[in-house]
Amino acid sequence: MKILFVCLGNICRSPTAEGVMRHAIEAAGLANRVELDSAGTGAWHVGEPPDPRSRRAAKKRGYDLESLRARQFGLQDFAEFDLVVAMDRQNLAAIERLAAACSGPVPEIRLMRSFDPTAPANAEVPDPYSGGATGFEEVLDICERACAGLVDHVRASLKS
Ligand code: 4NP
Repeated sequence: MKILFVCLGNICRSPTAEGVMRHAIEAAGLANRVELDSAGTGAWHVGEPPDPRSRRAAKKRGYDLESLRARQFGLQDFAEFDLVVAMDRQNLAAIERLAAACSGPVPEIRLMRSFDPTAPANAEVPDPYSGGATGFEEVLDICERACAGLVDHVRASLKS
């Protein structure tokens, strides 16, 4: 099963989600069944490592984001992935616009917090880029809760 996390810049939220989920699938013994990647709907940061604030906050919790590099989401990702997970409604809308222009099959597209059992419907992972350090901790808190739910979703998908 191949899962793609998508935010705007691919330097804060989606690489954090990828790092947290990698840890979660390893802990669940699913590392050999699941492949992960992340991308941004914007191209400003293509080729860059995750934001130093994201890397630092993740490292403190034992998640390693050092080897990740930003890339832009594209039509080819619909053929490549089984599940596309958007960090917020703006990026969900951008992905759905591209999906409407896609001639081939389109995988399931979900909001990240739809896997977070504490979140109300349509809740988002807030963009921490222009804010302070607490925003990066909040992204990690949300990703940890959502990834626990996403592991359950993966288990159910692999059974069916
Ligand atoms: P991300 O955060 O979408 O979580 O990676 C952002 C990173 C960069 C920008 C916006 C959001 N930017 O405008 O450059």
